[in-house]
Amino acid sequence: TELGKKQFSPREGFGSTLGVIAATLGSAVGLGNIWKFPYITGENGGAAFIFIYFACVCFIGLPVMISEFVIGRRSNAACVGAFKRLAPDTPWFFTGLSGVICAFFIMFYYTSVAGWVFAYIFKALSGSIVTSDPKVAEQVFTTFISGIWSPLIWQWIVLFVTGTIILAGVKNGIERMTKTLLPILFLLLIVCVVRALTLPGASEGVSFLFQPDFSKITGVTILAAMGLAFFKLSVGMGVMTTYGSYIGKGESLIGTGIKVVLADTMVSMLAGLAIFPAVFSFGFSPKDGPSLLFMTIPMVFNSMPFGQVFLSIFFILASIASMGAMISLYNAPVAYLTEERGWSRGAATIFTGVLMAAIGCTATLSNSLLSDVTLFDMTLFNFYSYLTDNLMMPLTGLVIALFAGWRLSRWEVSDEISNGGSLNNKSAIGFYLFAIRYVAPIAIVIIILNGLGFIKL
Ligand code: PFF
Repeated sequence: TELGKKQFSPREGFGSTLGVIAATLGSAVGLGNIWKFPYITGENGGAAFIFIYFACVCFIGLPVMISEFVIGRRSNAACVGAFKRLAPDTPWFFTGLSGVICAFFIMFYYTSVAGWVFAYIFKALSGSIVTSDPKVAEQVFTTFISGIWSPLIWQWIVLFVTGTIILAGVKNGIERMTKTLLPILFLLLIVCVVRALTLPGASEGVSFLFQPDFSKITGVTILAAMGLAFFKLSVGMGVMTTYGSYIGKGESLIGTGIKVVLADTMVSMLAGLAIFPAVFSFGFSPKDGPSLLFMTIPMVFNSMPFGQVFLSIFFILASIASMGAMISLYNAPVAYLTEERGWSRGAATIFTGVLMAAIGCTATLSNSLLSDVTLFDMTLFNFYSYLTDNLMMPLTGLVIALFAGWRLSRWEVSDEISNGGSLNNKSAIGFYLFAIRYVAPIAIVIIILNGLGFIKL
């Protein structure tokens, strides 16, 4: 098509290859790795679930991520505008809009958990969670989240801090911050892993993570694995499309995607290795859900020298990791309102933050005042998470796959992925095209229908 030949003018972007990786990783790595991955894995039986999760990451998540990079870099625009440029006067741009809505729903509960993490920095510093009694660890956490004002205020603080960063528009700041802090988080996780692996009874946790029992796998489990893959990689909502538009013309899109996916998975596995041995060693249950991180990690640190110091650093790093993800989420509506609707940055930031606080409080309060309010048998907290992971992101991802695989021409896509022919990666492009045209869309549809019980595999 003639659009394919049109080159959109370059705009400001990431400074270096490392910067590109750091920023995309900054969005991908977050509470998903250290909080959600372990608890969802725990609820779904361990190793077999991880195996399916990894298959979803490779055959669905990665191709969708590369597609988002293609769409973003080719159009050189943020997520809604990208579709408008590549397919003018068509409804494809709704894909970007659904991403914006999805960002709100994720933020409703994500900021609530980030609030817990922020609060835990101070609890660690004050020593109130330093205990060698698993019962106490559990009780401190439940008492905290079933309170009303304290978790709410932490959620608002989180939103306020993220909003302030967004308002300042420190893209450079994000890039620099992630580049230096991610490696430190990585190191500290390794320290935890070493300690956790040397706890008495640790081997049970290791086999939980590595010895698959496929008899436990059901349609519901597979849907959860795919949902986690979308959530983890921040794909299926346009965030990576926007980031793709900042990637320089000389970078390899497939290479970037593979590196991000591998690094992100490694961080999740490290978190799993830090948490599960401790779960078994201290007699918690892997099915303990969202509280897993907050009960096990304090216990792990408590059993080592300078534990209190390390524990505080751990939660500081965790909150920084969550900031990278939240910045990309908060930025989605702000970019839409400013770039497409002509709002000022200040108004867009405040509006977005107030809306997130106003509805997000229902997620926080679902551990207290609103614990009886359920939708489809889920608390509001769980509902927001289920809706986005298992439906909104996969469906938006499906549309992105169809767009990149069928709406854009083969030539356009190959041209973008090979950097105008300067990369000699024909077979990689072949694999990618096959995955995005056939494997990903068909798998997404089957997994959703099967997970919801419409078909039986
Ligand atoms: N990938 C982030 C995490 O695992 O914590 C969460 C996330 C960020 C999801 C950005 C979606 C998104 F657009």
